[in-house]
Amino acid sequence: SPDAAFRAGSGGGGVLMSSCSGPSRCEYPMPYPWGTWPVTYKYEGSFPDGFVWGVGTAAYQVEGGYKDGGRGASVWDTFTGANTVGMPGGNCSYCCKAPPCSINPGVQDKGSTGNVATDSYHMFPTDIALMKAMGLKHYRFSISWPRMFPHGEATGDPDKRGVEWYSNFIDALLKAKITPYVTLYHWDLPQALLSPPEKGGWWARDAEGKPVNEVLPNWLHYVDTCFRLFGDRVKFWVTFNEAWTFTKLASGAGKAPGIQPYMNPMLDPYIAGHNVLRAHAAAVDLYRRKYQAQQKGQIGITNNFDWREPKTNTEADIAAAERAIVFNLGWYSEPIFGDGDYPAEMRAAFKDTLPSFTEEEKRMLKGSADFFGLNHYGTGWFSASKDPGWDNSYGTVNESGFVHGQSKWLYGAGWGLRKLLNWVKRRYNSPTIYVTEGGWSMAAITPEQGANDTGRVYYYANYTSEVQRAIQEDGVDVRGYFAWSLMDNYEWEMGYKERFGITFVDYNFGLDPNAPLPNTAVPTPGNQLRRR
Ligand code: NOJ
Repeated sequence: SPDAAFRAGSGGGGVLMSSCSGPSRCEYPMPYPWGTWPVTYKYEGSFPDGFVWGVGTAAYQVEGGYKDGGRGASVWDTFTGANTVGMPGGNCSYCCKAPPCSINPGVQDKGSTGNVATDSYHMFPTDIALMKAMGLKHYRFSISWPRMFPHGEATGDPDKRGVEWYSNFIDALLKAKITPYVTLYHWDLPQALLSPPEKGGWWARDAEGKPVNEVLPNWLHYVDTCFRLFGDRVKFWVTFNEAWTFTKLASGAGKAPGIQPYMNPMLDPYIAGHNVLRAHAAAVDLYRRKYQAQQKGQIGITNNFDWREPKTNTEADIAAAERAIVFNLGWYSEPIFGDGDYPAEMRAAFKDTLPSFTEEEKRMLKGSADFFGLNHYGTGWFSASKDPGWDNSYGTVNESGFVHGQSKWLYGAGWGLRKLLNWVKRRYNSPTIYVTEGGWSMAAITPEQGANDTGRVYYYANYTSEVQRAIQEDGVDVRGYFAWSLMDNYEWEMGYKERFGITFVDYNFGLDPNAPLPNTAVPTPGNQLRRR
């Protein structure tokens, strides 16, 4: 039995799941032996009618064409060291003016940028052909703010070329009978809104250090424009993707802007987070007042969390794992799905480091989502520690024993997702949940290696079967699951080496003088190859 396999399993710490007590955790047995995916997988049960199966991407990770159509520079262009000379908002204090360059301040995979990415800006018909070939019906992508408003302008018309591109793309999706799911902010803040020291973007604060929502007028003008121009065809909006990641990880751990003066992990993320939450609520308020009745779409936010399981069943570890969830997922979820404010546990621990909402802001935040968007990738053990740690949760994570993906942070166990779904259900009174991302990275150099991705197949089988159990056995209201990603793409600071695609992308195609002539035939899921 899986439990016996678990007991006999390969070392690694951890509590016997079956011996755990308490209603909220430890109630499921390990579904497979340590360190491997199940090689034969029995998929039980079925999904409710209308369950949404989708895949996702994000603008900066796939579009490329970074100077095309008058696009302005974003904080990611700057962070990756792209040459932004002459681009609207271009800020070249760090950029690489004559590649190849070793200066690439934020990126571990030196020299790699999203300048070309999968070139979807030019190759979108190929992408749509690929989606059709795989029978896809639901596609999540993001709009690049600096393509619509190169300087992040707070007034005036958007760039016609940006509007035209997204409008054509949405039309092409609909023509292929694919429903668009649109994220308004997947991390590419226009650089013009963050030009230190004058402007602070989400990180702006006043002389006393209180958050100032300096970019709110710019943000509202941008989202209003998107609703107005695309809302006739887009019925599912996500305001922000993973605010936790672009605020918490931007203070030193590899996400833009990640540069001075935004490097204090115990201060800056909470200032930025406060501005982002207020911007989220204002966008939803605007959509609901001006567009929702007529356009009949839904709007929400995507938050993220990788499950933390108490390493032992001591009270200390159980409490630490709970803190990890509340201080990270709860930070961005409680104000929206709870009572309009940060979690009480967080306030007690952080005191004034956590800014305060006005009563009016609380009122706007509370209930400001029609669904709970959840990104989830992996799981780890969590144990109490004396050190407050990076997130003040007084705990440390340990992944020993889990099967791991290519990305160093990615460890898999589908039951973590089931527990997380149950946690969200319990804490937030059974919201409608869409799993807006989940996925598995695997190294590959050749298309053959890329196609041989059984680990990824096991990941999805295991994870989606746990979603199914959460729906059927636990009564969690999950309406959809979006795989990350349609194809390999620019994996942020890790560049092109970390591959999350369910399609292999051959980045060297056309660059190798000995390669065969370009083959423009429609790629099929069978060969899982898309050429750039
Ligand atoms: C979540 C992010 O939204 C996405 O952009 C990223 O590529 C994946 N995680 C994988 O790291």
